Amino acid sequence: MTRSRRPLIAGNWKMNGLRADALALAKAVADGVKRSSWGDREVLICPPAQLIGLVADAVRGSGVLVGGQDCHPAANGAHTGDISAEMLRDAGAGHVIVGHSERRTDCGETDAIVRAKAEAAWRAGLLPIVCIGETLAEREAGRTLAVLESQLKGSMPVGATAARLVVAYEPVWAIGTGKTPTTSEVAAAHAHIRRVLAGLTPDAGLVRLLYGGSVKGSNAAELLAAGDVDGALVGGASLKADEFLAIAKAAQSG
Ligand code: PGA
Repeated sequence: MTRSRRPLIAGNWKMNGLRADALALAKAVADGVKRSSWGDREVLICPPAQLIGLVADAVRGSGVLVGGQDCHPAANGAHTGDISAEMLRDAGAGHVIVGHSERRTDCGETDAIVRAKAEAAWRAGLLPIVCIGETLAEREAGRTLAVLESQLKGSMPVGATAARLVVAYEPVWAIGTGKTPTTSEVAAAHAHIRRVLAGLTPDAGLVRLLYGGSVKGSNAAELLAAGDVDGALVGGASLKADEFLAIAKAAQSG
């Protein structure tokens, strides 16, 4: 892992968490991070939107960052049930995940929509984590790198720089399944993403690339040590403080 790219371990709680459990989990993560001496890694948690304020208060002063899981492209308006990047920011978020495969699949989000959401994040002063990843069918057809390239080109707003963007590579077939690509497959995907980024940003070498999909305490060190991996986007394992902290710790030594 290159030190010029600060490791980022992001927990995506997805649609999990009621106030009491969320508070306990956030506090346990904050306590673990406060007690740690893992150097320069960043630890981010992305709870469901209604918990952002509660979680932001609970982790204040610990160094733990808080983000949203999605945002609408517009700042406000007649969009029932949606939440804007400005609202996330107002609630205490500094980051937002956009283009997660569950949103692309469940909500029909296209690359153009994802790009508009990343632009909305910038407008509100949030750092977007743009997710891309191939399905199993695409992988089996040998189309992984082509799919990553086209998703990245379609989802990246013009004007992206390393300071304004994080990219997460999440193979759809690895999310929540316990399956992961080999470290050489991860490294090949990340190297390709960085090559594509070189045509899209002035400082592609500094953009942080996260791997996501079945990361847990026991496989984190290996996955994080793969070439061009600067951190992890963690789903299921981020709901257990010990597991999530073990992954954050692995990021430091990876
Ligand atoms: P998982 O989810 O860690 O449960 O596989 C990852 C993600 O969807 O970000």
